[in-house]
Amino acid sequence: MANLTTHFFGLDLKSPVIIGSAGLSNSVEKIRLLAENGAGAVVLKSVFEEEIYNEYQSEIEKQSVAHHNLEHLDYFDYEIKNDRVKKYLELIQGVKSAGIDIPLVASINCTSGSDWVFFAKKLEEAGADALELNLFVLPSDFDRSADQIHDYYFKTINKVIEASNIPVSIKLSPYFSDLARMIKELSETKLVGITLFNRFYNVDIDIDNKELVPAKILSHPFEYLQSLRWIGIMSGRVKCDLAASTGVHDYETAIKLIMAGASAVQVVSGIYKHGYDFVKELVVGIAKWMDENNIESIPQLIGSANTEGIKNPEMYERVQFMKYFGEFDKAID
Ligand SMILES: Cc1cc2nc3c(=O)[nH]c(=O)nc-3n(C[C@H](O)[C@H](O)[C@H](O)COP(=O)(O)O)c2cc1C
Repeated sequence: MANLTTHFFGLDLKSPVIIGSAGLSNSVEKIRLLAENGAGAVVLKSVFEEEIYNEYQSEIEKQSVAHHNLEHLDYFDYEIKNDRVKKYLELIQGVKSAGIDIPLVASINCTSGSDWVFFAKKLEEAGADALELNLFVLPSDFDRSADQIHDYYFKTINKVIEASNIPVSIKLSPYFSDLARMIKELSETKLVGITLFNRFYNVDIDIDNKELVPAKILSHPFEYLQSLRWIGIMSGRVKCDLAASTGVHDYETAIKLIMAGASAVQVVSGIYKHGYDFVKELVVGIAKWMDENNIESIPQLIGSANTEGIKNPEMYERVQFMKYFGEFDKAID
């Protein structure tokens, strides 16, 4: 049978199917089930930087670690629950002491990069194997230039990396005016991996009540195309591993994203829709397809359809495709 081992988060993983950050992994038993179904790693739900500060305020101040920057508190749009961070650390410890053999990745929604020395130590002590940063600035502020946003990302990321002894990766948004360059420069830091892309909370309009409402929480199967394009463009041109996120709803999509250049895929909506068995379905589907196509290992597959490995790589960068739009239009003439 095909060998499904791969490498992401700076770790060796038993399979390329990673459970993305969400409430799917909020108990030891759920994580055991995900591991039994063949997941390669589990990213826990994000902890917010403000939660860390709120819960450990006195300890942080005692250690005189300056907390300069809480201007983002207004952006923190749900109730800060005491004890959430302690429970998070207990969950990591619980999984490790139950002997569940799966890498656990702590996820942090960081806004300022402060107090990391303190919290990174706590995560390491609890047994987290790696860290994923969930860092996002919506570029909607007229007074904030692209350069300022870049500086902010790099300062925050470097601060976290300096404070951590475990590998750090980032799940990125696609909202950069120079996305390729941004991904390349991020890969030249000490980040061990970049996941393309996070899918954020979206708003929609209720036209009857004339109010904004939350858009669909779960992704649609065709949403993988944006990740596929950018992984295909960046694969082989970056200095760290890439993973894919958003829109993995079947094993065929996982294979395409790996062929484009992802070392692994992250999955969330598919599990919410189809249940925990969906993880096994993906793993078995990938292995069976590899066997049928005489592909022995995941590294053999990674990037086999990136810009260097495919007949017509120019299609990754073609956005106004006259030939296909023209033919499509002819069909209704
Ligand atoms: C209910 C729910 C909760 C989520 N919570 C987080 C979170 O805490 N941190 C994070 O980085 N992403 C979070 N996400 C985003 C997912 O990790 C993932 O990036 C996104 O859903 C796209 O993947 P998918 O198409 O497989 O769902 C959440 C998604 C869902 C649906």
